[in-house]
Amino acid sequence: MTTIRKAVFPVAGLGTRFLPATKAVAKEMLTIVDKPLIQYAAEEAEKAGIDTLIFVLGRTKNSIIDHFDKAYELESELALRNKTELLKIVKDTVPEGVNCVFIRQSEALGLGHAVLCAEAVVGNEPFVVILPDDLIDSEGDNCTQQMMDVYDEYGCSVIGTQTINISESNHYGMVAGPIIRDGLSRVDEIIEKPLPAEAPSDQAIVGRYILTPAIFEVLKTTERGAGGEIQLTDGIAELRKREEVYAYSFVGKRYDCGSKIGYLKATVEYALKHNDLADEFRQYLRQVSV
Ligand code: UTP
Repeated sequence: MTTIRKAVFPVAGLGTRFLPATKAVAKEMLTIVDKPLIQYAAEEAEKAGIDTLIFVLGRTKNSIIDHFDKAYELESELALRNKTELLKIVKDTVPEGVNCVFIRQSEALGLGHAVLCAEAVVGNEPFVVILPDDLIDSEGDNCTQQMMDVYDEYGCSVIGTQTINISESNHYGMVAGPIIRDGLSRVDEIIEKPLPAEAPSDQAIVGRYILTPAIFEVLKTTERGAGGEIQLTDGIAELRKREEVYAYSFVGKRYDCGSKIGYLKATVEYALKHNDLADEFRQYLRQVSV
């Protein structure tokens, strides 16, 4: 059994690509059909055995705290009306035995800085980092579980990756290195948002990481990089000089819900899989398809 029990959700970014929707509402509270992105991420972690959810929040993110808080009035109202199914849905937002911790990132200095903000709560343990706007649909074990299995076998940091069209490398952290086995390679090169001509391969980092606590020491001295932000990728570039880091090409389909088109694709595909909606929605799509 894995010893990893804590997951960090860095959700303090400004979400500028979704303005004005994200002016007062956190990007991670945008819903795919009937669940906010942050809840998909929390459920992925819980299913993989995580019992401590650590949210690193920005100023406009109080709705995330409310979402994972107990909703006394709503719960008693639903109980009074005998709405037992809905009551269960509301209560299951945080299952029994799972704890939530909220940390403020006072300035959006970058993903690396957001992860560093979680140090005091994570302590000296390996931990998972999940970016909720990367929604990953897997038929078998979810992405976090798959990566934990890799961690259990090799005991080193693991980064989730996928193959992209190299023309898009300037939107991603990119990695390259020798193959360990099918779907797993060592990270020898890692660079944030390179131009296609400078990308070391077509392997892009997506929003899933398992990191050893050594990352914290490294992030303390990581300087601002791409976009003037303290980049997690730059921290991992330093970490891999001290210990091995692996890249794992997960099994599943990833939707970039931080972009409008990725968000729309996820909405359509999740609706087509939704028990109550699929049939009617499929019919509707047939009518409107051009
Ligand atoms: P993004 O690059 O998607 O930035 O951050 P963003 O601010 O969320 O969105 P846009 O680009 O302005 O539309 C990647 C992840 O890192 C987190 C974000 O919340 C997101 O989960 N992040 C980024 C922080 O937690 N803090 C930061 O300072 C920056």
